[in-house]
Amino acid sequence: MAQVCILGGGFIGRFYADSLTGRRGKDQVSVVYARKEETAIRFAKDFQVAHYTTNMEEAIAHPATEFVVIALPNYLHEEAVMLCVKHKKAVLCTKPLGRTADEALRMTQACEKAGIFAGYLEDLCYTPKFLKSLKSIQSGALGRILWAKSRETHPGPHSDWFWDIQKAGGGAVLDLGCHCIEIARNFIGKDVKPVEVMCWADTQVKPIDAEDHAIGLVKYENGAIGQFEVSWTFRGGMDLRDEVMGTEGTIWINSFLRTGFEMFTSGAGKSYVAEKAESDSGWQFPVGDEAHELGYTNMFTDMFDAYEKGESPMETFYDGYVVNAIIDAAYRSAKTKLWEPVQLPEWRGQEGLSKPSVFQEYDADHWFIKEEILPNGDKKLILKVKATGEIIEKETWV
Ligand SMILES: NC(=O)c1ccc[n+]([C@@H]2O[C@H](COP(=O)([O-])OP(=O)(O)OC[C@H]3O[C@@H](n4cnc5c(N)ncnc54)[C@H](O)[C@@H]3O)[C@@H](O)[C@H]2O)c1
Repeated sequence: MAQVCILGGGFIGRFYADSLTGRRGKDQVSVVYARKEETAIRFAKDFQVAHYTTNMEEAIAHPATEFVVIALPNYLHEEAVMLCVKHKKAVLCTKPLGRTADEALRMTQACEKAGIFAGYLEDLCYTPKFLKSLKSIQSGALGRILWAKSRETHPGPHSDWFWDIQKAGGGAVLDLGCHCIEIARNFIGKDVKPVEVMCWADTQVKPIDAEDHAIGLVKYENGAIGQFEVSWTFRGGMDLRDEVMGTEGTIWINSFLRTGFEMFTSGAGKSYVAEKAESDSGWQFPVGDEAHELGYTNMFTDMFDAYEKGESPMETFYDGYVVNAIIDAAYRSAKTKLWEPVQLPEWRGQEGLSKPSVFQEYDADHWFIKEEILPNGDKKLILKVKATGEIIEKETWV
């Protein structure tokens, strides 16, 4: 049984508590810290938490705290992690790990030096659809991964601090792009080095200093490309979609907005629909089991199982740091309008990969380009002559 202390009684803290205690699980939230006493009391009451406090260090040091789950605004993650290091408590931190790669690397190294378990709570790398896709990709079903695109767009976050660039550390790229980048990294291969980033980011709608909309490309050392599309100004709910393209196949995932559950209501009986849903009347796209479909339950299972077995979880602080480094490069690119290198002072994956050859042999004299069956059943074969470079086609008539 895991004895959990949740730091932060807000949006994600409540989602985490629901995931941990909402089923007949053996894990327990035993301590909660919130900035305001009324938040802590309400949280403790709603989730039957035995101890609450408005003192962060007291919560972390509490004897009933075995795991600390950080569900605090971004600018408090490092402080909270360092207190876990001080008190030698296992720590799980929500995304983004840091506001910058420097912050994230400091957290990663401090936990490793102290020998404490540190997991990165990247829930969207634990959704049922993601896990199934990853398994297929790892089994080779899609061949070599060429392009992995991930999109998270919604009408903007729910608390003041997100909109303050100092406290949040960035805008939609940091808040939502961190998910998209880690999804693409998993599909492309986490040991493949991200080398450079090109990003467009702009503030199109909101009166803020950060970007509210951005699109970015992340180039990997093996020639694969990751793409993120993020927005805090999208209207219509929360759109979570991934696309993966490989030499042998394709995956399209729609995780939230239109997942096969559609409902119409006049608005009678007002009820919660789904995260960031903009309306509770008309056509609705509810989500059956939101905590599960967003990956929270699988995520905590992986974290606690890994801890018990003395292994690393699927998502570690090191992963959070790599994601932050890609985001730092994206912010530089948005300013310079150039491809910017990803600066990874610490890289633990493969080195020196290059793009595989595009030449696939058809026979001793030809390279293969394409084969296609036409509407009348004829077959066309398109080849490149090795000796001359000429591109030719061979037809087989039915
Ligand atoms: N899908 C996800 O994984 C996901 C979703 C939402 C948020 N998050 C992350 O979780 C963290 C918290 O986000 P949230 O949406 O729960 O925010 P929130 O504003 O809803 O809640 C933050 C909570 O932190 C506590 N807090 C302590 N000190 C504070 C301070 N100085 N200012 C404000 N709050 C303070 C409060 O109890 C507050 O309720 C962020 O890092 C965010 O990026 C992750």
